[in-house]
Amino acid sequence: MICRLQYGDPILTEAVVQEIPVTNLVPAYLHIKGEKNDVIQYHMQKDDIVYGLGEANRGINKRGYSYVSCCTDCDCHTEDKLSLYGAHNFILVKGEKTFGLFVDTSECVRFDIGDSDFDELIITVNCGDYNLYVIEETELLDIVKEFRKLIGQSYIAPKWAFGYQQSRWGYRSEDDLRDVVNGYEKEDFPLEAVYMDIDYMERYKDFTLNMETFPEFSDFVKEMQEKEIHLVPIIDAGVKVEKDYPVYEEGVEKEYFCKNEYGENFAAGVWPGKCHFPDFLNPEARAWFGDWYRVLIDQGIDAFWNDMNEPALFYTDERIEKAFEYMDSLKGKDLGVDLVFEMRNVMNQLANNVEDYKRIFHKVGDKLVSHNHVHNLYGYNMTRAAREAFDKNYPDKEILLFSRASYIGAHRYGGVWTGDNCSWWSHLLLNIKMMPSLNMCGFLYSGADIGGFNSNVTEDLMIRWLQFGIFTPLFRNHSALGTRNQELYLFKDKDTIRNILQLRYSLIPYLYSEYCKAIRENDMLFKPLSFVYTDDKHCEQVEDELLLGESILLAPVYEQNAKGRYVYLPEDMLCVKYRGLDDMEQIEYIKGHHYIEVALNELIFFVRPGHLLPMAGKANRVSQIDYNKLNVIGYKAEGVEYQMCTGWERKNGLSEPRMECYTLNGLKTRK
Ligand code: GLC
Repeated sequence: MICRLQYGDPILTEAVVQEIPVTNLVPAYLHIKGEKNDVIQYHMQKDDIVYGLGEANRGINKRGYSYVSCCTDCDCHTEDKLSLYGAHNFILVKGEKTFGLFVDTSECVRFDIGDSDFDELIITVNCGDYNLYVIEETELLDIVKEFRKLIGQSYIAPKWAFGYQQSRWGYRSEDDLRDVVNGYEKEDFPLEAVYMDIDYMERYKDFTLNMETFPEFSDFVKEMQEKEIHLVPIIDAGVKVEKDYPVYEEGVEKEYFCKNEYGENFAAGVWPGKCHFPDFLNPEARAWFGDWYRVLIDQGIDAFWNDMNEPALFYTDERIEKAFEYMDSLKGKDLGVDLVFEMRNVMNQLANNVEDYKRIFHKVGDKLVSHNHVHNLYGYNMTRAAREAFDKNYPDKEILLFSRASYIGAHRYGGVWTGDNCSWWSHLLLNIKMMPSLNMCGFLYSGADIGGFNSNVTEDLMIRWLQFGIFTPLFRNHSALGTRNQELYLFKDKDTIRNILQLRYSLIPYLYSEYCKAIRENDMLFKPLSFVYTDDKHCEQVEDELLLGESILLAPVYEQNAKGRYVYLPEDMLCVKYRGLDDMEQIEYIKGHHYIEVALNELIFFVRPGHLLPMAGKANRVSQIDYNKLNVIGYKAEGVEYQMCTGWERKNGLSEPRMECYTLNGLKTRK
């Protein structure tokens, strides 16, 4: 059951696709407080668990900390960070009362989940303009499904996008990309896509190509297509201010850029230097920007990642001017510790400064709205700009799209990656914990920068990260300029790496099917154990194991030097200890706690009783996966069938999955 309350005068976010009438009957357990009704309070019981918040820091259980929904260019996800790139205002409370809350607002929201007071959940909505959806069901999963129905079907990524993808900030030319592809080919490693980060452009200008380093782009795309490699260019939100650059000139002429307080085009520095920012909240500006993707699509490109769309602002002239004024005022003074610290602070606040965000204005309907009130909708509408244009210009083409910033609603238009993590073991664990939360909010096609973006990866971390990463829909290795290279062919233990990649391809029939079913049924692909084993109290404690689809339980190793790990099994299961497609042990484990040895060249996963796991043979591209030669692993699964999705049909603008049915002997039984 869903009820909708409304406070203040919320700007339409279009996160929700169902019409739910507004009621003023507030459930007795919720307290709406504050002069502007801007505070939602719930008194938590001792054992209440709070789930949700999508792309957010810390644990699966969010209790005991604060989170601020405010899309942030957060370049270091340490434990104290309150905001990351996504604003996903959906939480679920499990306890004496079990319910879900979606705070639908374009404003930033603070979720104090037992941080100030362990017993209180206090949600504060800036300005008090919001719709509050309260969802009541007995089971958590039913709340999620109800919520997901409310916000509409998740984006369907192309099947090839389940292949392995290699990225790095620093590939500069066609030759650099060729080298990467050759590196994979030489080692007989699968590869599906290579990424073009900002250096493919002419001085970081969207929809341009550096003609010196990409002189024959269409030919290069073709050359890659012949090898079945997709090229994935980045598109940044900021448009370089430069005379005669058509995107800039058109945007200025048509008034499609955000304004400042004087009605001029707002300018801030990002990678290209001074930029203007397309007003993605204006449908015309959205359509205009979306059409620009054609420049690349018409040369054969079928995949994009949208970046810097919180939007990230490295600096503005105004902020620099203020910093200079401040520094001048200090000149000649005898500075004490306090002033030196203040000085450092002023310099550190040049980027992403709230005062700058306040100076951006959008056209929302016929009103001018300060960015401050719609900040969280910016990246979402950039994704939407691209997708709406793809649907209009290429209705029959499957185009991969994912974004850094997002709000709920963006899940209908594309996926997300979780931004600039580090090559830290703690960020491997964060990746594990974030996946189910992202799924609750509709972001199914998602993943982290595998191996870590910032700082230097070590071989053991890369291997362990891959051993988890092979299960995430977006399976992309990405790293920052200046860090140690982490293309997989550069590591020593190539056999182990090849075996892990082969397992990914072998599991794609299963992963893709489970992904499609999760889309169709508004289900989660990754679930915390507690969402399924609802009567098992211990499952509520387990944050380092996940269920993946109907058949698999994951228990990845995520600690350095660990030669194994403790695993809790809520029922008897079949452990698959994998060393290679021809070297898999199957061991039965009974319900309960176990310590399982897992050497670096091994990975484990579990098959649940009564379920089947189809596995394909070797393939180096998704297209090479042979669905006619599947092995099916089953545990206590006599007579059980497995519903496989092999693709989608588009009929009358709607997508329907193509389902086939498999049994334990691997036979396809019917269409
Ligand atoms: C941002 C992105 C990162 C990208 C870099 C350069 O930091 O998050 O993925 O590599 O910009 O474009």
